[in-house]
Amino acid sequence: FTNFRIAATASAVPKQVITNDQLAQIMDTSDEWIVQRTGIHQRHISDDETTSTLCTSVANQLLEEAGITANDIDYIIVATMSPDFLTPSVSAMVQGNVGAKNAAAFDINAACSGFVYGMSVAHDLLKGDRQKRALLIGGETLSRLIDWHDRSTAVLFGDGAAGVLLESADDEHGAWRGEDIKTFGELGRHLTAGHIVNRNPFSKQVDTQSPFFEMNGRRIYSFAVRNIPQSINKAAECANNTINDINYFVFHQANQRIIEHVAEDMEISADRCPININEFGNTAAASEPLLLDQLIKNQKIKRGDLLALTGFGGGLTIGTEIIRY
Ligand code: ACO
Repeated sequence: FTNFRIAATASAVPKQVITNDQLAQIMDTSDEWIVQRTGIHQRHISDDETTSTLCTSVANQLLEEAGITANDIDYIIVATMSPDFLTPSVSAMVQGNVGAKNAAAFDINAACSGFVYGMSVAHDLLKGDRQKRALLIGGETLSRLIDWHDRSTAVLFGDGAAGVLLESADDEHGAWRGEDIKTFGELGRHLTAGHIVNRNPFSKQVDTQSPFFEMNGRRIYSFAVRNIPQSINKAAECANNTINDINYFVFHQANQRIIEHVAEDMEISADRCPININEFGNTAAASEPLLLDQLIKNQKIKRGDLLALTGFGGGLTIGTEIIRY
């Protein structure tokens, strides 16, 4: 086995839906501003759900859809930047919750690129001389990291989880075709969240870094529109494909304007760039699998379609996986 196939997809979002008008009741914003600048109409925000409970729901659905048991899983990988704890990892909690006794579990933090980075890791793990299976899940409750008094970030994000069951496959039937993943650590301070405050009694440091989500939105916007086309072109080249061969571009849903900007620059028609940010907001590592699951369940994406999955965000990170569904 030198490749993997996508055997199942699933998603889980909190029950509670918060509209733009509801946000306008607690902060100085409006439905008009949010829709015009981002394309977001509503988002799911957790009540009692956590990243681990949402990811566990996704894991159970993946097992059920594929008709396999938890014992059949070799790896559980969760991409998240909003875990319940720093330890145990969300993936270890999922492993315990579903009883996947034979699975090694670990988290990946590459912010909104986490799912794409996870596919790259899973590709290497599933190679070998025996059939192996991995649950790859992106899950977030970013609502826990947000400063709900900061209108410039609070309106953008939503909670949710989604993922795929990946199975080893031979290259002829395999999904993975090529990739490009890249990190720009020197730009990392443009997007920070979850700073751990120094409370040790022996330190004289005065810690001024906010623990909340902080972002230089304009800087990330220009980073995204400059680097996404390069990433897609490199990944397509790695896959021996051209942009014209790709049926659908499954973009990280951070801002509808970013997607439209990139599509225009790359001369890709809008119907090849599906969008669901209107329903879910920016769900970071959950965003691409959430869209992928929706498109597969709606039968818009069919077996044999060539997909480009592109993530970008905190790190700063960016990545594209070319996948044959
Ligand atoms: N409601 C009303 N007005 C607002 C709001 C709001 N929610 N937020 C900001 N404003 C105001 C600002 O104060 C500013 O007012 P001023 O002109 O009087 O100063 C004005 O609106 C414009 O603000 P900008 O920040 O310049 O607006 P912009 O058009 O750049 O849109 C946005 C902001 C949506 C954040 C955009 O920059 C963006 O999408 N950036 C990319 C973010 C991204 O992709 N992040 C991905 C990574 S996320 C991750 O990794 C987890």
